Amino acid sequence: MSAQIIDGKQLARDVRADWKRRVVDLTERGVKPGLAVIIVGDNPASTIYVRNKVKACSEIGIHSEVHHFSENAQQGEILECISLLNQNKCIHGILVQLPLPSHFENNKVITSIAIDKDVDGFHLYNVGALVTGSTNFAPCTPYGVMLMLEQYRIPIVGKHAVVVGRSNIVGKPMAMMLLEHGATVTICTSKTKDLTQFTRLADILVVATGRPRMITANMVKSGATVIDVGINRLPDGQLCGDVEFDTVKDVAGYITPVPGGVGPMTITSLLCNTILSAERTKLSV
Ligand code: GUN
Repeated sequence: MSAQIIDGKQLARDVRADWKRRVVDLTERGVKPGLAVIIVGDNPASTIYVRNKVKACSEIGIHSEVHHFSENAQQGEILECISLLNQNKCIHGILVQLPLPSHFENNKVITSIAIDKDVDGFHLYNVGALVTGSTNFAPCTPYGVMLMLEQYRIPIVGKHAVVVGRSNIVGKPMAMMLLEHGATVTICTSKTKDLTQFTRLADILVVATGRPRMITANMVKSGATVIDVGINRLPDGQLCGDVEFDTVKDVAGYITPVPGGVGPMTITSLLCNTILSAERTKLSV
């Protein structure tokens, strides 16, 4: 039997339509949500991500601005920019596109963002808040995955979730959010010895390793939900995920495609967090 495809594009459209009403409502009350994106250098993938974020903001009615610095900019310049944005009342979300060039200290930059504008949820305070169950901003990719599970009514409580990947952006917060929602969670990496023995136990398998098609059908339990966070460009220019979609879809119960799965939901989550942040400022005046 073939798995049900989780349609991230359609889901993103539905969620954005809902949240657009909140933007209209806020704007009518005199608060136009605003997002500032800081990008350093010309990493091609980052450039595309930032362009897509700006486009999505414009479509939903969020003001956005991009602060672009050259590859050899000094950390102090970025900190100064963030300090101004922290004080800017038109900006409700600040995002520093990662990765930063190697001469930057990631945590120094990210912790200079005001906690209440950290719509990526990467500030150490917000990471701590997430881990202790009082989330301020949920990191965008895992938040998008949770929305998918919720919308497709995939049960989490008591289920075994296996996360393959340990990044600060996806793997670690994903594991924490699944745990918080009642799953039993195993965290693996692409280097886990006999990875298959773990992945085959998963009711929910989330893969974020950046290794093209590393999860094959024999690694997946029949009927499992398979969420593919990977997006890889093959030498022939084709895009593919970390899961071998064509074979795994015959074993899984639900599966996300690449492209058109997690990707559109990640940007949707960023929009939601920015709107949420603007709503909070409105509530606090
Ligand atoms: N680089 C890759 N993914 C992300 C993300 O979700 N946020 C930021 N800021 N940078 C990224």
